[in-house]
Amino acid sequence: MADAVKVYQTREEMPDRFRETLEQMMKSQAYRELAAARMFGHGLQYVAEQKWLKFMVWHIGEETEHYLAVARMYEKFTGESVQDWVNQRLAEKPVPFSGSWFELAMAQFLYDRGGFWQLQEYEGCAFPPYREVIGKIIEEERGHQGLGEKIVVELCQTGKFEDVKQPLFERWLRLGLLSFGRPDTEGNHYAISVGLKKRDSGLVMQDFINDIKPAVRSGGLKFPRPEALGMELPATLDWSV
Ligand SMILES: [Fe+2]
Ligand SMILES: [Fe+2]
Repeated sequence: MADAVKVYQTREEMPDRFRETLEQMMKSQAYRELAAARMFGHGLQYVAEQKWLKFMVWHIGEETEHYLAVARMYEKFTGESVQDWVNQRLAEKPVPFSGSWFELAMAQFLYDRGGFWQLQEYEGCAFPPYREVIGKIIEEERGHQGLGEKIVVELCQTGKFEDVKQPLFERWLRLGLLSFGRPDTEGNHYAISVGLKKRDSGLVMQDFINDIKPAVRSGGLKFPRPEALGMELPATLDWSV
């Protein structure tokens, strides 16, 4: 049995590496949430139907709230604002934007779902205040990607998106998978060993892939060859649908 990990209540009692890793997790999360708010905000122009308008605005609002909640947590923890770091990172690594309603739904389905699975790895985090903030975000994320999936499948089944559905699926599949970080790194091993996250990125990727398989089938989509995604993936991933 693994040794029980130490739980920290304050920043002062944390070993340096633990504190730095936790801060990095908060910063990355803040970036991701604001990136999502901007991406879906940009996508508002593609919402043609009234019935989706409120949903999209609500979604943008929730991503904004997530960003602000993580930013508050970061500031409380470090005494500094995360804003400049996030803005800088967004300038260097701009948010991927969608170019159509169909693509926006794909983003909602896959980008959001990647984040959803990623966050669940922090649920038992050895710093309890982080758990609290993350737990609330996870509950809200559950609602976003479910609808994204439904819209994608419905649109795919109309047969009107045959020429674009596969490339757009592959683009956002890759972006969803990137949210897990590189598998099997020393940093992963460290974060797991001290209880900052539950499992290696490769295992989380598999959960994410399994989770989207029914929609992949229903939408007549195909998983690409893993090499075609141009990213580091564990060779053991099961892509069978
Ligand atoms: Fe979010
Ligand atoms: Fe979301």
